[in-house]
Amino acid sequence: MNKTVFVSGASSGLGKAVAEYLASSGYRVYAGSRSFGREDVSPPKGCTGIHLDVTDGSSVNAAVSQILDKEGEIYALVNCAAFFTMGSCEEVSYEEISRILDTNFIGMVRTVQAVLPAMRKQGSGRIINFSSINGVLSIPFQGGYSASKHAVEGWSEALAQEVSRFGIQVSVIEPGDCRGGSRKYRNLNPNSAESSSPYYEYYIAGTGKIHFDEQNGMEPVKVAKAVRRLLDSKKPPFRKVVATLTQRSSIWLHKILPGRLFNKIISDYYAPKKG
Ligand SMILES: NC(=O)c1ccc[n+]([C@@H]2O[C@H](COP(=O)([O-])OP(=O)(O)OC[C@H]3O[C@@H](n4cnc5c(N)ncnc54)[C@H](OP(=O)(O)O)[C@@H]3O)[C@@H](O)[C@H]2O)c1
Repeated sequence: MNKTVFVSGASSGLGKAVAEYLASSGYRVYAGSRSFGREDVSPPKGCTGIHLDVTDGSSVNAAVSQILDKEGEIYALVNCAAFFTMGSCEEVSYEEISRILDTNFIGMVRTVQAVLPAMRKQGSGRIINFSSINGVLSIPFQGGYSASKHAVEGWSEALAQEVSRFGIQVSVIEPGDCRGGSRKYRNLNPNSAESSSPYYEYYIAGTGKIHFDEQNGMEPVKVAKAVRRLLDSKKPPFRKVVATLTQRSSIWLHKILPGRLFNKIISDYYAPKKG
């Protein structure tokens, strides 16, 4: 098979799992992240590591050129690079929100724009953008992250509509909580974590729940297998939820309940237990 796939954010978590799984399935995988290119960091098993900073256009273009020079084509791009900062909407600065958007959303835009000319010339290509259940609904203390994933969803939908005429198929994948993500990419906002913060107790309970749900989440390989199915499918769905029944139920509730009631349920779920 040996089709070439470029995976961003592949040094950790789901990106790493996807890169390794695709390599073990016979894809030729270029694994991109800021960590690669340093001597002390090895790429995922079976993959070629490539230095990539999605916040830097010249780094993105250099990575894509390197792959095209070597392979002559890119069959697929899988965008996983992201991070989040947990803090209240009031206390996370807009500079920090910009940083989150610059990596999770604009970083994805930069990478897609860098591969599109080659994919158009090929007359084919696959793009899989990592959204999240948080791309459909939001939860407390992840305002910036949720906004970035909603942006991924909106932009990807327009992209899919525009590029299908060039033979390029776009999907967004919406995983529920998965274990294996690194704490390195989960920042705690110092203001909300301060006992003088008006959000402090709610924040401690909420972030505790978020960590617990991730640690008890799905195995990353479940998402990696779903990515492979999207790549192997002739007509991949535009939107692919990968989640447990409980995680899926939050999407259904979000669809059918009045917004006010949904917000109350979610707000209570993350609140400190009474008594
Ligand atoms: N884990 C979950 O429960 C979950 C659920 C739903 C969706 N997702 C999505 O799945 C993807 C992976 O998340 P994860 O939690 O599994 O992984 P993670 O452990 O948080 O890893 C994040 C990855 O992004 C890379 N990255 C961060 N900034 C970058 C930059 N400027 N340029 C290039 N790479 C950058 C990091 O590599 P370097 O530091 O080496 O650059 C790392 O490989 C994300 O898009 C996330 O939103 C995760």
